[in-house]
Amino acid sequence: MDLLRFSTAGSVDDGKSTLIGRLLYDSKAIFEDQMEAVEQASAARGDPSVDLALLTDGLRAEREQGITIDVAYRYTATPKRKFIIADTPGHIQYTRNMVTGASTADLAIILVDARKGVLTQSKRHSFIASLLQIPHVVVAVNKMDLVEYSETRYQEIVGDYRAFAAKLNMRNVVYIPISALHGDNIVSQSQNMPWYHGATLLHHLETVNIGAGRNNVDFRLPIQYVIRANSAVDLDFRGFAGQIVSGRIGVGEEVVALPAGIRSRVAGIHRGDESCDRAAAGDGVVITLEDEIDISRGDMLVRVRNLPHSSNQIDATLCWMSEEPMKIEWSVSNNFSGQWYWLQQSTRRVRASVQELNYRINVDTMHREEAPTLRLNEIGRGQIVTTEPLFFDSYQINRATGSFILIDPHTNNTVAAGMIRDRARRVSELVQKQEEREAPSLRASRSSNVVWEPVAVTRPMREELNGHGAAVLWFTGLSGSGKSTVAKALEQRLFALGVRTFSLDGDNVRHGLNSDLGFGPEARTENIRRVAEVARLALEHGNIVLCTFISPYAEDREAARALAPEGSFWELFVKCDVEICKERDPKGLYERAERGEIPNFTGVSAPYEEPVQPEMVLETDRHSADELAQRILEALARAGIVHGGNS
Ligand code: ADX
Repeated sequence: MDLLRFSTAGSVDDGKSTLIGRLLYDSKAIFEDQMEAVEQASAARGDPSVDLALLTDGLRAEREQGITIDVAYRYTATPKRKFIIADTPGHIQYTRNMVTGASTADLAIILVDARKGVLTQSKRHSFIASLLQIPHVVVAVNKMDLVEYSETRYQEIVGDYRAFAAKLNMRNVVYIPISALHGDNIVSQSQNMPWYHGATLLHHLETVNIGAGRNNVDFRLPIQYVIRANSAVDLDFRGFAGQIVSGRIGVGEEVVALPAGIRSRVAGIHRGDESCDRAAAGDGVVITLEDEIDISRGDMLVRVRNLPHSSNQIDATLCWMSEEPMKIEWSVSNNFSGQWYWLQQSTRRVRASVQELNYRINVDTMHREEAPTLRLNEIGRGQIVTTEPLFFDSYQINRATGSFILIDPHTNNTVAAGMIRDRARRVSELVQKQEEREAPSLRASRSSNVVWEPVAVTRPMREELNGHGAAVLWFTGLSGSGKSTVAKALEQRLFALGVRTFSLDGDNVRHGLNSDLGFGPEARTENIRRVAEVARLALEHGNIVLCTFISPYAEDREAARALAPEGSFWELFVKCDVEICKERDPKGLYERAERGEIPNFTGVSAPYEEPVQPEMVLETDRHSADELAQRILEALARAGIVHGGNS
């Protein structure tokens, strides 16, 4: 039978407890009817008892994770589904309450008091639900009895909420008018609201599609414990137990154990007492492998071709859940002598420190604010460093491996819940620059709660995204001077630094785009004009563009320069004595030109105008291509166009 996990959000007098009580009471009533039938059936077959243990099994994983928050889980079931309700004391500790168990909640019920309408509190709950990416949201407009079951009032509230939900990009919101106290639209259709034709709350809970929110693709099995059995049958049985948090796996399939990185194949899968061929997300399993691999608690089994990220630095959204404010350890040292926390992610527990708080999110306005720390119920974005690497996916694609909690090592209390965005980056720097440049669409693309405004993607935005500037490096010089050789050596280095490059080379371009052009003065001018236009487009798209053309005419090169923004066009004179070019003559062209077979050959029968004030002179007859490439790289670094590049 299916299992639906849901949480309820509302403030003290929204009727949360009444609603939960009502649901438990009414659904139990149904359940008991059925139970009787089941019991009778069991008895008839001679089974000694009815197994209800299944209902509580789902919780073991959470207990294993040592989440020490006072959330009461309540269980109930109807003939159609089992339910786990995360029930929390009804203080205003909404963040904490909702965040707990977030990675597993399928649905959130947001209670709105029909008399009060959509309050700040309701908005906060909704914001958190969207942040946690809870796949389904039910807005239960409660206390309809106190507004005389008015359809107008209900529609008004729905309209208000819709307008707000649109800003959060929330889909799958279902609205139900109820009275928890009187049981209207909870289990059975209300006689008092004949105008409402939708599902009752219970019907919706029983039928809502919960498969959609789950990750069935990325196989992840965090190891909870290793079972060593010395049975007479199998002397060295070693099984790896845990709950598959996402994806599926079958016997015979190749897996890799992290962090060891050692591969093996699945020899057997055991679920409870039975062995099976396949298992999927949600299953608690014991897996045996064909090879003996040293695996322990906190390790992870994954597929060879579908690895999670591995890093000891993460970029995360943090929900602070402790009275003690977050402590930020600014030092970059790795000795963790100062304030550190236990970071528990799936079954892995490592030491961690919060290195940086990028911003706090104002839950009422949804704006980002600068803040020195996070306090109880506050949400922000931070950079975290751990002593050992974590294996994770972003929360967006895998709620199980993308979430974690922070635990205070002294009190053993859970102080924060986190959702991993990515590996840590120079985020603060990037974000700040972004804000300065007012690139709303780039900011928007980093946040999931976005109102998309029609803003063009510009070069500065791309440069921020890439983490480097854009430029045109224009290599000019005689045929055989070494333009392409130096450019290639440079491109290789840039690539290694993660820089986006775009190459345009005379020999290539003349085979395609400019195959209609010869080598007369006009044709050469047109050749350079077209190339310069393409270079400009590539530059505007954030690339470092490497152009290698003889480009013998100073005027053509100046025209190319004029297309690029000030300072981003570098004329690199690849200087080489013509006699040496002739000696090299890589394509045998000088020889042919001198025999008169190639007319207008630069350096033989056509002129080459040397640059007067090039950005750099690269003397290929005196230095190696590697040396020169390194020099260009260093100049680019000095100019702040790329980072790094020191040998
Ligand atoms: S440019 O002068 O118009 O900039 P470009 O760099 O595109 O020249 O093309 C130069 C390449 O074309 C040379 O490397 C060589 O392989 C080939 N080529 C063929 N004919 C000539 C010529 N008459 N002069 C120079 N290069 C030529």
